[in-house]
Amino acid sequence: MFHSWVLYLTKNRMRRIYLDYTATTPVDKRVVDAMAPYFTSTFGNASSIHSFGREAKAALEQSRESIASVIGSRSSEVYFTSGGTESDNTALFGVAAKFGGRKKRLIISSIEHHAILHSAEILRKNGFDVIILPVDPQGVVSEEALLESVTPDTFLVSIIHANNETGVIQNLPRLTAIAHEKGALFHTDAVQSFCKMKFGTEEAGIDLASFTAHKIYGPKGVGALFVKRGIDWQPLLHGGSQERNRRAGTESIPLVVGFSKAAELAAEEMQSEHDRLSRLNSLLRDIISQRVPAALFNSPAKNSLPNILNVSIDSTKMEIDGEALIINMDLVGIAVTSGSACSSGSLQPSHVIKALGRDDNTTMATVRFSFGRYTTEDELAIAAEKFAEIVGRIGKRKKASLNAS
Ligand SMILES: Cc1ncc(COP(=O)(O)O)c(C=O)c1O
Repeated sequence: MFHSWVLYLTKNRMRRIYLDYTATTPVDKRVVDAMAPYFTSTFGNASSIHSFGREAKAALEQSRESIASVIGSRSSEVYFTSGGTESDNTALFGVAAKFGGRKKRLIISSIEHHAILHSAEILRKNGFDVIILPVDPQGVVSEEALLESVTPDTFLVSIIHANNETGVIQNLPRLTAIAHEKGALFHTDAVQSFCKMKFGTEEAGIDLASFTAHKIYGPKGVGALFVKRGIDWQPLLHGGSQERNRRAGTESIPLVVGFSKAAELAAEEMQSEHDRLSRLNSLLRDIISQRVPAALFNSPAKNSLPNILNVSIDSTKMEIDGEALIINMDLVGIAVTSGSACSSGSLQPSHVIKALGRDDNTTMATVRFSFGRYTTEDELAIAAEKFAEIVGRIGKRKKASLNAS
């Protein structure tokens, strides 16, 4: 099948290969079709009591049921938001506001998404005590460190389920049990793991979880926050009584319908897709291992999402400009991301890759390959070959490594 994101540019006939599915995914055509009527014919405001409003409300509640069934919760525990960032912010600020007076400690990990890290930073500035847990070289959060840091004064522990840069997966039931022993609530950012692996809110034992639609072939601008029944929290947005007084603002029915359709499809196809992506991951890993001797894999081979392979070039073996690497990949039509964040026009080493113990130069020379529903074996083989060729061309092997080989 010829997809629009694998374009043969008529001008230079260059084939573009999209390998940045962790950043976002194209919207599945089946999702677009499900959303379409809610822009035009079924456009009512879900708060109106007339028939147009009731139709919109029915679609909203049906979508809530769908998401709840995918995450194994009650529908009354699902609150629609504008996406992962809002869900993360609501979890941290919402719980802090309710418990903050009595409890002052928030625990997060060193490999959280900025939606958590920056929110935690604001809480710290507002007088909260924020503890950042280390990870081991595989990116696994230290349970010992959590045991030592969690106190009766801890209102929330928030640990990312599967990391967005490396894919490493945390053991949520164990971490949650440690938090609960000291009376702390547990939140997880499940944005990347959602529909990519089995996830049940009850099995994981968690109290709050964040999700978004645009990583699972749904639209951008919609997500959800799961909050276990009985937990009190303060809304972020105030105004109308939407989302049972927890999130003011007219609900976007097309987005919510698209989100639930995307989740239903991804959940149905999860196992076969997991197996297929695991095979693609091994293929990519094998080619890079053979062709790029200076490659260091930041994604663990086990306990990691199959759709992400994060690779650094070892600075003790090779000198390479990470930005030039990404640009050269783009010039040959391959869209990948570096492990760096761009702030004020200059690249900063990724806090996630640094947390694994990599030095700054190795961290800067990082590439994240992330793939998905429309990626073929052929595309990954081309990307791996091009990567090896570019590393060989623009990297300078260091003397010690030349002598060793
Ligand atoms: C782990 C993680 N959390 C949160 C977010 C933010 O989600 P959204 O883009 O829906 O605000 C992202 C998106 O990159 C993510 O990867």
